[in-house]
Amino acid sequence: MKIAVVGTGYVGLVTGVCLADIGHKVQCIDIDSEKVEKMRLGFSPIYEPGLEELMVKNIAEKRLFFTTNHKEGFMDADAIYIAVGTPENDDGSANLLYVERVAKDIAENVNSDVVVVTKSTVPVGTNDRINEIIQNNLVNNVTIHVVSNPEFLREGSAIFDTFNGDRIVIGADHEPAGKLIEEINKPFDISVFKTDLRSAEMIKYASNAFLATKISFINEISNICERIGANVEDVALGMGQDSRIGNQFLNAGIGYGGSCFPKDTKALIQISGNAGYEFELLKGVVHVNQNQQNLLLYKLNQRFDSIAGMKIAVLGLAFKPNTDDMREAPSIVVTKRLIEQGAELIAYDPAAIENAKKLLSSEIIYVNSVEDALKGSDLALILTEWSKIKEFPLENYKKLMKEAIVFDGRNCYELSNVKEHEIEYYSIGRPNVK
Ligand code: UGA
Repeated sequence: MKIAVVGTGYVGLVTGVCLADIGHKVQCIDIDSEKVEKMRLGFSPIYEPGLEELMVKNIAEKRLFFTTNHKEGFMDADAIYIAVGTPENDDGSANLLYVERVAKDIAENVNSDVVVVTKSTVPVGTNDRINEIIQNNLVNNVTIHVVSNPEFLREGSAIFDTFNGDRIVIGADHEPAGKLIEEINKPFDISVFKTDLRSAEMIKYASNAFLATKISFINEISNICERIGANVEDVALGMGQDSRIGNQFLNAGIGYGGSCFPKDTKALIQISGNAGYEFELLKGVVHVNQNQQNLLLYKLNQRFDSIAGMKIAVLGLAFKPNTDDMREAPSIVVTKRLIEQGAELIAYDPAAIENAKKLLSSEIIYVNSVEDALKGSDLALILTEWSKIKEFPLENYKKLMKEAIVFDGRNCYELSNVKEHEIEYYSIGRPNVK
């Protein structure tokens, strides 16, 4: 089928490339001409394992195209996917300006009947609004239906997730429109859950809010474990063996970040409030996460009277491994506070340094390896569990640092191993090693 995808961020680009790979003819549309030029040559604007290879393959096989021109992109499309951003407004609500602009562009440019598919995470009721904007601004005599098809892919494993998702949710109030989207997705061979428009919109928010709740829950349990002398990793393993709980998303750490959980949890609190319901539990989840981002700093301040003038190695900056994304990364809060307290920071991240430079203090020195960050440092702080950091030989800490003192915000190492290598070690929800 012929498909247009508007917006080439994580969701849009991965969706476009994967739809091309299963045999559709896909036009990806973006207003940024420089970005479009690069993508035409097979260069991905984002770091995502496996994405460029698939781009190059599908461009060569003439199924994947890029344009800045809406009219050209929409020409004879069977479906148009909306995958533009919905950034957070100051009050936590979702900003729908981009989505609404695309709806208008569709109305003004489509030349044949088409199904409009919303991939962007939008508050309940937005798809009705999109439909209204389109119907009110239609230029040609065509029929348009709107379908919600929320995205569940994770950054860093986006391609894998698209081909191996647990379910595809299709929300439609018009049966044939929903069927067409089911047909487009058939080659993925993933089970489809069909529902109405509003329930599909809610499934996306409720899923992200639930996952964020699991994280804040285990983080609070970890804080209690520290006080009563238990080990949160064993607690999580023991809990996770109950299939009703499940063993995923129970890794305690310095809190969730990224472009989705922080934004979507706040948006759902807003949506509930607007509907006359206070989502108390989710407010707690957000609050716990904010506190958790300060936990390493708290531990540091308990251990040292002052960190002024100390040389601190910061290992990992991205909000999670396998991405260069710095949005809402705990490293933003942590590095800011360390600098405020007068520390000297030497930071390493395998992929996010370029993005970090745009966001973090200009006083930070960036290096290209764990080794270079540790050399001559007074202490090390682990903020992201990249495999390059997890697999770094423990004996090198003692060799490279002035004193081997490590504050690990992601529980990267076994306690018995750090003990063996005589590292003073503070982690999350586990006993300290001194
Ligand atoms: C998340 C969801 O997992 C996707 O299903 C969803 O499609 C996406 O948001 C979205 O709405 O677009 P993502 O933000 O890429 O995906 O990242 P996750 O892998 O879910 O991790 C989110 C954060 O939670 C990270 O900061 C991670 O470090 C943290 N986390 C995750 C924990 O602290 N503990 C865990 O056990 C799991």
